[in-house]
Amino acid sequence: MSSGYQQDITFTLNGETVTADVAARQLLVHFLRDDLGLRGPKIGCDTGHCGACTIVYNGKTIKSCMMLATQADDAEIETVEAMAGESGELSPLQESFRQEHGLQCGYCTPGMLMSASFLLERNPTPTEQEIREGLEGNLCRCTGYVNIVRAVQATSAKEVSV
Ligand code: FES
Ligand code: FES
Repeated sequence: MSSGYQQDITFTLNGETVTADVAARQLLVHFLRDDLGLRGPKIGCDTGHCGACTIVYNGKTIKSCMMLATQADDAEIETVEAMAGESGELSPLQESFRQEHGLQCGYCTPGMLMSASFLLERNPTPTEQEIREGLEGNLCRCTGYVNIVRAVQATSAKEVSV
């Protein structure tokens, strides 16, 4: 049921069906973080520039600060919370970020991981240039880009599913 201010939505989040009553003006990133408690998507700018809030929406990376929670209705959404294994073991991509020191403060990391994963699923052996282009929507305020690119290259070299 929906009113002018609230709307019932049902969607798939990290493989689970979620139903919620959301405010019509609520941003998707706020809904994920504040209502559902997923702190992976970060808020760096709220204006679509930094990429810290990147998630996968219907198979494509999007910036969740640029969408309304109501737009999650009927969608399939993945956040960084789905990346590690069930017992918390790091995915190959996450492990490469750890080994290559691809994070400093870590604020950009969830968004970087989502964009890098999206890139590697479509192009398992990207060139450095392709990696840089694939991550161009994600800013790292610690400016650790060299090691982030290296982490993606290391994952590619492992020839495993990200
Ligand atoms: S918080 Fe969404 S792009 Fe910066
Ligand atoms: S590691 Fe600090 S913003 Fe990227």
